[in-house]
Amino acid sequence: MTATARPATVFGLGVGPGDPELITLKALRLLRQAPVVAYPAPEHGASFARSIVARWLSPAQREIAIAMPLEIARFPAQAVYDKAAAAIAAELAAGNDVAVLCQGDPFFYGSFMYLFGRLAERGHPVQVVPGVSSLTACAAAVGGPLAARDDTLLVLPGSLSEQQLLCRLAETDAAAIIKLGRHFAKVRGVLERLGLAAVARYVEHAGLASERVLPLASVTPEEVPYFSMILLHRRGEAWR
Ligand SMILES: C[S@@+](CC[C@H](N)C(=O)[O-])C[C@H]1O[C@@H](n2cnc3c(N)ncnc32)[C@H](O)[C@@H]1O
Repeated sequence: MTATARPATVFGLGVGPGDPELITLKALRLLRQAPVVAYPAPEHGASFARSIVARWLSPAQREIAIAMPLEIARFPAQAVYDKAAAAIAAELAAGNDVAVLCQGDPFFYGSFMYLFGRLAERGHPVQVVPGVSSLTACAAAVGGPLAARDDTLLVLPGSLSEQQLLCRLAETDAAAIIKLGRHFAKVRGVLERLGLAAVARYVEHAGLASERVLPLASVTPEEVPYFSMILLHRRGEAWR
């Protein structure tokens, strides 16, 4: 039960990109106080978001794993979020706060937004605690600013078509291309056509022991993991 008279609340906690030290003090405090902790998890295997904060979980906390098929179509996903929102709403009705773990930041392409929509729409109190996003973690890994002065910075999913990538990247000063995985070869091809490959860097697993930063030419497309992105900046060393 919550300690105060306020209604039981859902806390969407950004837990950062993967380094357990990159969690805010606020997220850590709310995580430790929550009697129930929910997180997305693959159908088989461990939850990345949970693994980031595992050292701070207590056996007294009840856990709700939101099992997500890896290649999820829109309709099964709706059913998964409906079921998870119902389980969380039941905890709230019993007076229990629920901490939902979100890798990176909850509102930067985070699946938390689907729970947020369902719960907030039904009048449940939901608070979002921002986290260190992969965008800024990758910039730190690369060792260069994302953008400067009057630059435009574009964030693009690698899943866009070749034509969409070409059009959008042709105009921008700086870009982050996320969700690479099997789209890497296509994205690299586009950057080569635009003459941008030399000012781009590939980052995988930023903030983890397995972090790698590579020039695009050194990347093996078949080995590109989901947790990777390309950062590019036309003006290169923009601070000079
Ligand atoms: C669904 S989005 C979630 C982003 C997350 N909410 C955030 O704030 O970083 C997943 C994408 O973020 C990027 N990403 C997340 N964590 C990363 C990491 N540690 N290193 C590199 N890229 C990462 C990858 O491009 C991945 O495909």
